[in-house]
Amino acid sequence: MGILDKHGVIERNATLLMVLSLVVVSIGGLVQIVPLFFLENTIEDVEGMRPYTPLELAGRDIYIAEGCYVCHSQMIRPMRDEVERYGHYSLAAESRYDHPFQWGSKRTGPDLARVGGRYSDEWHVDHLTDPRSVVPESIMPEYGFLKHTALDIEFVEDRLIADAMVGVPYTEAMIASAKEDLMAQLDPYSDGIDNLYAGYGENVVARNFDGQDELTQMDALVAYLQVLGTMVDFSTFEPEASR
Ligand code: HEC
Repeated sequence: MGILDKHGVIERNATLLMVLSLVVVSIGGLVQIVPLFFLENTIEDVEGMRPYTPLELAGRDIYIAEGCYVCHSQMIRPMRDEVERYGHYSLAAESRYDHPFQWGSKRTGPDLARVGGRYSDEWHVDHLTDPRSVVPESIMPEYGFLKHTALDIEFVEDRLIADAMVGVPYTEAMIASAKEDLMAQLDPYSDGIDNLYAGYGENVVARNFDGQDELTQMDALVAYLQVLGTMVDFSTFEPEASR
C-alpha cells in the first residue's frame, strides 16, 4: 500500500480530515504569530520622528472631529503608482505617535500622508474655506467656519497626558508648558519659542498659520496638515534591512 492509498483514509473520513486540516493550519498560523511575541519592537526607530506639538495635536483632533478621514487616507502603499504620486511609502514609525492612527479606509480625496509643505498656508486656508476656488472640480465640503471658531485650549495639558499614557514620549516639562508651547508656535518671535524648539526640535514650523490675529481652529488644522509626512528626512533615510 503506497502513501497515496493511506491518504484515501483521510479523504473518506470527514472528521479526521477536519481535525488534521486544523492541525496543519494551526502550525502555519503559529509560525507567523509566535515570533512576534519575542520581538521587542515591531516598529523600527526612524530618525526625525517626534511627538506632535500641542498645536499640531489640536489640529489633529479637529481633523478627526470633522471627519476628514472619511474621505482621506494617510497611508502611502509601497506600489509604484502611489509612490510616484504621493512620495515615499509610509513607514510604520510615521504613525507611531498617532492614537488612533489615521490610515483611513477610503480615498474620495487624495492621500494626505505627505501633504505637509506641498502647499502654502494661504492655499490651505483658501481651499478649506472654499475648495472650488482653487480646485474647480472639487467635491470637498467647505470648512470656512474653522476660521471664525476660537481654538479651545483649556485641556491641552490633559490631551498630552492622555497620549503619554499610551506611550507617546511627552515629558513632564512638555506637559507643563503645553499652553505656552501652543501659543509660541504661532509666533516665531515670541519668548516661548526657544522652549518649543527645546522640546520638539528645531524643525518645528512656527508661524501664524491662518493669517489672522485670533487663535482659531484653522491655525491648528493647517499646522497639522503642514507637518504631515515631513518629520522623516527621506534624502538620508535607509530602511533597517538594507543598513
Ligand atoms: C466628502 C469628501 C471629503 C471630505 C469630508 C474632506 N475632503 Fe479634502 N478633498 C476631497 C477631494 C475630493 C479632494 C480633491 C479635490 C480638491 O483638492 O479639493 C480633496 C483635497 C484635499 C486636500 C488637497 C490634497 C492634495 O494633495 O492636493 C487637502 C489638504 C484636504 N482635502 C484636506 C481636507 C481636510 C483637512 C478635511 C477635513 C476638514 C477634508 N479634506 C475633508 C474630499 C474630501
